[in-house]
Amino acid sequence: MANDKMRFGTKVIHAGLSPDPSTGAVMTPIYQTSTYHQKTPGEHKGFQYSRTSNPTRKALEDNLAALENGKFGLCFGSGLAAIDAVIKLLQAGDEVISTNDLYGGSYRIFTKIFARFGIKFKFVPMNSITAIEAAISPNTKLIWVETPTNPMMNIIDIAAVSAVAKTNNVLLAVDNTFATPYLQTPLDLGADIVMHSITKYLGGHSDVVMGGLICKDEALAKRLYFIQNSSGAVCGPQDSFLVLRGIKTLHLRMQRHCENGRVIAHFLKTHPKVDQVYWPGFEDHANHNIAKKQMSDFGGMISFTMKGNRKEDAFKVMSSFTLFTLAESLGGVESLVCHPASMTHASIPKEEREKSGILESLIRLSVGVEDVLDLQEDLEAALELA
Ligand SMILES: Cc1ncc(COP(=O)(O)O)c(C=O)c1O
Repeated sequence: MANDKMRFGTKVIHAGLSPDPSTGAVMTPIYQTSTYHQKTPGEHKGFQYSRTSNPTRKALEDNLAALENGKFGLCFGSGLAAIDAVIKLLQAGDEVISTNDLYGGSYRIFTKIFARFGIKFKFVPMNSITAIEAAISPNTKLIWVETPTNPMMNIIDIAAVSAVAKTNNVLLAVDNTFATPYLQTPLDLGADIVMHSITKYLGGHSDVVMGGLICKDEALAKRLYFIQNSSGAVCGPQDSFLVLRGIKTLHLRMQRHCENGRVIAHFLKTHPKVDQVYWPGFEDHANHNIAKKQMSDFGGMISFTMKGNRKEDAFKVMSSFTLFTLAESLGGVESLVCHPASMTHASIPKEEREKSGILESLIRLSVGVEDVLDLQEDLEAALELA
């Protein structure tokens, strides 16, 4: 069956994959090789050197392209290496408009690395299309969207931003790490590039660091493959295998992440010690209607603040859990908790952080796929102690 005819639950298992041509192995082998035999110079079986391409990585890249309804996939050694490749499409003097509420590491690579090479970044609240339009200049070459945003769970209207990008002949890249293609496919909404921290839900088991890009346009793909090969920040075949294996259950995991996320979000919303709960599934979430329009469900990422906004209370809760593990990262089968202000978003200056709502008592949960009653009891007990 052609990839584009498969439904999502079939794609995760079959798209881009076929039994290994040399042995018939059903699971893609780990091609642990850096180089490939050539009969005469230039005469080979499609692979020359594993920085350029590797069969295990290629299987994963093809699978990812199909999941995002794209045509071309590229995998990198981390999500940040994938972002690095996108910004290398630009040159000194070019401008990027980015959402002001985004992963701290993305903010850091923009402002601390690429700004030094003469690329200018403007951070705007992207729930306002007029704010995006106002920031566009003749030098704007890229709009960077993250939705849902990390950690405030803001929702950005991808189709509306894409319309602005197209009118102004600007590329649109969407970081789809939080939603995954199970919940939303930005290329279908007009994005040019989808980016993933594969480390998170796609890998799904907190055992791999990897990044990915997917696009539809061949000319753009060629430029990105050139950067991937020239800069060389690729992932290895062993990690590619682990992610291929993780992706086979993406739809099952995401379904449970969403179900558990819904229960935990509602539990927190009525808890007397909790102030704000940020989860796009609430009808009173500022962009709930956009979330409903562009996502098929609302995911398992939730942030909340404590009444009184005291950091000590948040720390007490985070260190009292027995199931939620206090750790960076998200999207694994196990539930994780983190303190964005001092962990994932510490690289954003305090004033900037607080402007987008990252307060001292903000706690971010990555709700895993355990039994939700055990998770709720863990939260209840930890909040009791604060
Ligand atoms: C939304 C988002 N984008 C990008 C990244 C960077 O990915 P990596 O850690 O794989 O480099 C992260 C990591 O936390 C993230 O949460």
